[in-house]
Amino acid sequence: MKTLRTVDELRAGLNGPRRAGRSIGLVPTMGALHEGHLSLIRRARTSCDEVVVSLFVNPAQFDEAGDLAAYPRDEARDEALAAEAGADVLFAPSPAEVYPRGFATTVVVDEVSAALEGEHRGAAHFAGVATVVTKLLNMAQPDVVFFGQKDAQQVAVIRRLVRDLDIPVRIEVGDTIREADGLALSSRNVRLRADERRRALALRRGLDAVRACHAAGERDATILAAIGRAAMAELDVEPEYLELVLPDSFTPVASVGEQPVLVAVAARVGDVRLIDNDILNGSGQ
Ligand code: PAF
Repeated sequence: MKTLRTVDELRAGLNGPRRAGRSIGLVPTMGALHEGHLSLIRRARTSCDEVVVSLFVNPAQFDEAGDLAAYPRDEARDEALAAEAGADVLFAPSPAEVYPRGFATTVVVDEVSAALEGEHRGAAHFAGVATVVTKLLNMAQPDVVFFGQKDAQQVAVIRRLVRDLDIPVRIEVGDTIREADGLALSSRNVRLRADERRRALALRRGLDAVRACHAAGERDATILAAIGRAAMAELDVEPEYLELVLPDSFTPVASVGEQPVLVAVAARVGDVRLIDNDILNGSGQ
């Protein structure tokens, strides 16, 4: 596996394979790789000829300076893990390479960015994500790009941006990977103290309670959300939000009918902000 730092190096490195008709898969990451990322890299390995993993802690998408400063960084570890999972290229640009002096463009995806994460983290969060993902797609020009379902709203934002800007890439979404007890893997989990790690299970508990109540016949979204919040309260965790929304637009639903409905939850446990989700009437997880 090669580690490349500049857009010119990346383009030059991918020119040959592209001309030879080899398919290119991109797995965008901010590093601190865990099994969720590795499952996406392995998936890219099985479906693409060249696998590029990008590693860039994107300052533009952090709404809290403390979160950016505390974000775990260990490039040597990430390099080893990406290579082991089957990556051909690790693209690890500097902030100056991604945002050179005079950088003045922001990609804003309206509507789907506004609710939940957009509301709680601020509009700049998804603008930062959309801008960097647009840049990464232009830099690597992959045939397929891979994201994790845990960041369900990010996936919806990127689907919309790819569609609206006619970017020629296929999006593949990997299931959320969980610890044995159900906690969704996140690069932020390492910051949970022992007691917080136990309370972090509240997110999964809340989602499970909603699923069970729906399975028992409840269809009213307000009641389902209240059941989820009550289950979280048992572990002394109050969600920033626990809402039932349409998975593509992130607009709230009043009731659950035949169509898939996404149950999205975010909560702060200690200093660590966690998110998770589940789909009712979908493939589920
Ligand atoms: O999901 C992430 O790790 C980031 O939001 C992404 C897609 C790599 C953009 O910085």
